[in-house]
Amino acid sequence: MKTEGGSTAAKRRAGERAAEAVEDGFVVGLGTGSTTAHAIRAIGRAVDDGLAVRGIPTSFQSRQLALEVGIPLTDLDAVDGVDLAIDGADQVVDGETGAHGALIKGGGAAHAREKLVDTAADRFVVVADPSKLTDRLERPVPVEVLPDAHTVTADRIEELGGDPTLRDAERKDGPVVTDNGNLVLDCAFGPIDDPDELATRLSRLPGVVEHGLFVGVADATYVGTDDGVEVRRY
Ligand code: A5P
Repeated sequence: MKTEGGSTAAKRRAGERAAEAVEDGFVVGLGTGSTTAHAIRAIGRAVDDGLAVRGIPTSFQSRQLALEVGIPLTDLDAVDGVDLAIDGADQVVDGETGAHGALIKGGGAAHAREKLVDTAADRFVVVADPSKLTDRLERPVPVEVLPDAHTVTADRIEELGGDPTLRDAERKDGPVVTDNGNLVLDCAFGPIDDPDELATRLSRLPGVVEHGLFVGVADATYVGTDDGVEVRRY
C-alpha cells in the first residue's frame, strides 16, 4: 500500500538534507522507502569521501541499498545507541493539533523494524515530500500480525471501528509476507482524531506485532519542495 505521488526531486532534496545531519562516528538508522533511499545514497557518497559511520538497516531493501553504496552495517544489539535515524512516512500530521508530527508508516510493510530503530535513536528525522502532509491521519493503518492470528486480530480491529484488509502481494499469489515472516492488515479507520489513543488500543491486541502509527516519535520532518527543504521541528 504505497503512497501515490510526490516528486522525485522533492524526495531527493529531503533525503539529501537529512544525510547532511550525519556526523563522523555516528550510528545511523537507515529507514525504508523511496525518499530515504536518497539519504542512503548520499550517506554512501559521504562514506566514499571518508566519513566513518555505521548503519542499521530497517528492511531487506535498505540493507541491500546500504551494501550497494558501501555503508558499513551493524545491528541494534551490537551498539550502545543510535545517534540518528532517517526514515520516510506515508502521512505526517502538519497542523496545530496535539497530533502534530504523528505519522502513518508501513506502506512498504517495514514498520515493525522501522519503529524499533527509529524509537531507539537519539534523534529521528522524517523525510517527506509535500504530498505526505495532512491535517489529520486518514490513510489505512498497516498492522503487522502473526500469520495464525490474522483472522481473530482482524475481528478485534473491527471492534475498534476499523475495516481491515489483508495486503495482497504483487507478482506472487497470496498475501504480502513481511521481512519478519508475518502478514499485514491495512486497517481503514477514516479520519483519526486521536492517533495516540488508537495506537495504544492496537498495541494491546493479541497477535499484533506492530502497527504503523508513530505518535510522539519524530523529532523533525524535512519536507522537500520544488526549490528547497522546509523543516518542521517537534
Ligand atoms: C515502509 O514500510 C514505509 O514506512 C516507508 O518508510 C514509507 O512508505 C515511505 O516510503 P516512500 O518514501 O517511498 O514514500
